[in-house]
Amino acid sequence: MKKVLSFVLNGHEVSAEIESHKMLLQVLREEFQLTGTKEGCGQGECGACTVLVDGIPVDSCIYPSFEVDGKSVTTIEGLLGEGNVLHPIQAAFVAHGGVQCGFCTPGMIMSSKALLDETPMPTVQEVRNALAGNLCRCTGYVQIVDSVLSAAEKIQAEIKQ
Ligand code: FES
Ligand code: FES
Repeated sequence: MKKVLSFVLNGHEVSAEIESHKMLLQVLREEFQLTGTKEGCGQGECGACTVLVDGIPVDSCIYPSFEVDGKSVTTIEGLLGEGNVLHPIQAAFVAHGGVQCGFCTPGMIMSSKALLDETPMPTVQEVRNALAGNLCRCTGYVQIVDSVLSAAEKIQAEIKQ
């Protein structure tokens, strides 16, 4: 079965005819060529495929695409500012060594974005809890937590300016 889905993707109204068995991850990568979102386990275990649906982080590899009809989806590509300026969270990951092989990074950053939208100045434990579903084989997580805490400070400092 196919259905035309209409939703907001990174701030733009989009629509596409999608087969019912497709998960959101496939739609993003194959229909919209948004390959920043990665497939790791494909089973909802690793968080590499995390995107935001109406601001909530979801594992797009197991998120039925029909569910996004009428909703708003944000991927890692949607965080870039004008002129492809990195979002403060992206910049902090680069600055603090939160990116090594980079495979987990889009998912980590999207989970971090959801956290900072809800909790602008999180504790270390709150960051760890928010990223508990995102696995990284490279960094040992310390640099990732540092990156998120640094991004939080930067965002708050920018708001106060
Ligand atoms: S690829 Fe979706 S959770 Fe691992
Ligand atoms: S940076 Fe390689 S898996 Fe996280």
